[in-house]
Amino acid sequence: MRMCFGLAKKGAGSVAPNPMVGCVVLDKCGNIVSKGYHKKYGQSHAERDALLKLKNNEAEGGTLYVNLEPCSHYGKTPPCVDLIIEHKLKRVVIGMKDVNPEVDGISKLKTAGIEVDYVLEDEARFLNRRFIKTMTQKLPYVVLKTAATMDGKIAARTGSSKWITSENSRALVYEMRKEFDCILTSSNTVIADNPSMSQTKWRCILDKNLRTDKNSKIYSQGNIYAATKYNTPLKDGELDLKSVFKTLYELGIYSVFVECGGTLAGTLLKTGLIDEIYQFTAPKILNDNSGLSCFNGDNITEISQAKILKIYEVNYLDPDILIKAQVSSS
Ligand SMILES: NC(=O)c1ccc[n+]([C@@H]2O[C@H](COP(=O)([O-])OP(=O)(O)OC[C@H]3O[C@@H](n4cnc5c(N)ncnc54)[C@H](OP(=O)(O)O)[C@@H]3O)[C@@H](O)[C@H]2O)c1
Repeated sequence: MRMCFGLAKKGAGSVAPNPMVGCVVLDKCGNIVSKGYHKKYGQSHAERDALLKLKNNEAEGGTLYVNLEPCSHYGKTPPCVDLIIEHKLKRVVIGMKDVNPEVDGISKLKTAGIEVDYVLEDEARFLNRRFIKTMTQKLPYVVLKTAATMDGKIAARTGSSKWITSENSRALVYEMRKEFDCILTSSNTVIADNPSMSQTKWRCILDKNLRTDKNSKIYSQGNIYAATKYNTPLKDGELDLKSVFKTLYELGIYSVFVECGGTLAGTLLKTGLIDEIYQFTAPKILNDNSGLSCFNGDNITEISQAKILKIYEVNYLDPDILIKAQVSSS
């Protein structure tokens, strides 16, 4: 199954809104006879990619490993379960059930007399966390990036915030952006930093009153969606953020990388709209309580009310640290 995960990851960036899927086929003696993965949205699913490479009946009586339940419906390609049944596999081992309600591959396999087992379900769900969110909530997967000092400051009290982190970290941010369909930022950040944020297909700017200068770098290329009070409902006097994400989903945007200051980051965190945080920490201490904080969206009086995260990766980027964490939904 871990081999399936590795194969699946080769499809990262080209399969959305589909899941990343890898498949390994073993013959009846347990030898690997084929491997495949879902390479591009609209192209063969992993099982089809693996099974169509077989020349003879090598898979008969064998086992097929796949990290997602095989499909049973006609989508852009025919059902994978039919091909599995045709190849007379004895057993199918699955990472996770498909969250797409149209898929019921497991019953179809069982009806055909094929044994079905599960393994490494948590890892399989983690691998396809973006797919699970977009399929079940019809909203894009949202990752917020912050770059802060060790005392959690993203800018000095004057608003000066350039180059908190090192060149290494900034180069990595450019690469990270490419893993997303859209960068979302705010009017304040565009006005303060005039970023170009050009690495994604889309840019979204939250600019309720159209305060940003249309000559700002961010407007100079690609697709722009500006959320304003003219096209977005308001909630408590501010743009309704959930409604903005719904619109982005409808535009075919399935993943969003947020780069903003503490006001918007804090509101997004409070409203439960962030799935993950990528926190870059520089070995610097501003030592001024009036500096701008990473998150400034709530009036919390008890530490027990703090948002709980689950760190899943830590990288030392000399001299900075990058922490990747999932935000708990509770
Ligand atoms: N170090 C970093 O990682 C990093 C990254 C980005 C920015 N920054 C720095 O952060 C500073 C800006 O921070 P900031 O706190 O002033 O601004 P911010 O958090 O970037 O943006 C706040 C603005 O977003 C808009 N917005 C729209 N809908 C909103 C909603 N529902 N809730 C909250 N805000 C909403 C509002 O402007 P409208 O009313 O105009 O819509 C609001 O004033 C700048 O100095 C920038 O350099 C640092």
